Amino acid sequence: MNQMQITQPDDWHVHLRDGDMLNHVAPYTAKQFARAIVMPNLQPPVTTVKQAVEYVDRIVNAVGDSQFEPLMTLYLTDDTSAEEIILAEKSCFVKAVKLYPAGATTNSSAGVTDIRKCDDALAAMQEAGLPLLVHGEVTDPDIDVFDREKAFIDQVLMPLMNRFPRLKIVFEHITTADAVDFVLNTGLTIGATITPQHLLLNRNAMFKGGMRPHNYCLPVLKREQHRQALLHAATSGNRKFFLGTDSAPHSKDKKENSCGCAGIFSAHAAIEMYATAFEEQNALDKLEAFASFNGPDFYGLSRNTETITLERTPWQIPDSYPLAGGDTLIPMMSGETINWKLIK
Ligand code: DOR
Ligand code: ZN
Repeated sequence: MNQMQITQPDDWHVHLRDGDMLNHVAPYTAKQFARAIVMPNLQPPVTTVKQAVEYVDRIVNAVGDSQFEPLMTLYLTDDTSAEEIILAEKSCFVKAVKLYPAGATTNSSAGVTDIRKCDDALAAMQEAGLPLLVHGEVTDPDIDVFDREKAFIDQVLMPLMNRFPRLKIVFEHITTADAVDFVLNTGLTIGATITPQHLLLNRNAMFKGGMRPHNYCLPVLKREQHRQALLHAATSGNRKFFLGTDSAPHSKDKKENSCGCAGIFSAHAAIEMYATAFEEQNALDKLEAFASFNGPDFYGLSRNTETITLERTPWQIPDSYPLAGGDTLIPMMSGETINWKLIK
């Protein structure tokens, strides 16, 4: 297959940031995806519908005359009220609420200290049918960083599901065979997103010939056996798994630092990288469901009607992209050749 036409995909998990960074990165997402679920971990975080409306304006402004539709999220805190959830549901453009365990990752300090403090908000979400998007890692420093997703399933997710059995939950950016098994063995209220980096890279990629900060994200890359489990899940055709890049840009300075930020920028070539992963599994015929059908079906939204075309044309990913003030952004697969290219 040298050319492939699929229904236009959506990105069910992206960090578009704000200010100059937003203006630089949003056009990459808008070029390939019709819609995207936009993460709320700004500084300060997007905790109210009012802040989300203002953020929508800035995103629309950043993508110019593109038809791209941002789907907004609220940042859950210990104090999120049921009233705010009801306002969110009524707004029609807030599509989900994001759980960051406090201290789990970038800009999560305002996150949830104990999920039981959020019972009012969670009950309102369950009634409204508003999904909870979870960053699924415990924050206990005594738990090995590679085991934090598994511990989250046991300590937080299972009890949460039992307390709110009708709450829709998206287990975001899953990284382990344990998470795949959990999603497969639970009911239709649970879905999961999978990133390009967790499909294409295992943890060796962080240490190839030296420290590779641009391959560092959270949840951190795992062993090859986990990558294989994710590849199987994504290409299985199972409707619970869908595309979410977790594209998370940080400037080169912030990545190449004595305490480098977590996050991999992938929006420049996201759909091409997913195509590469699916081809590795001989499963290009499963890409459309994963990228374009399963996400809207889970969220109860209509599927897109436009199409995109990918062509087998090797091209070299730039080493870096310029940012304001002379800074640069190092993309995933920087300087490498990729075999698929989005042509329209
Ligand atoms: O690697 C990550 N980067 N993981 C996250 O959960 C947050 C994200 C960011 O905002 O940079
Ligand atoms: Zn994220």
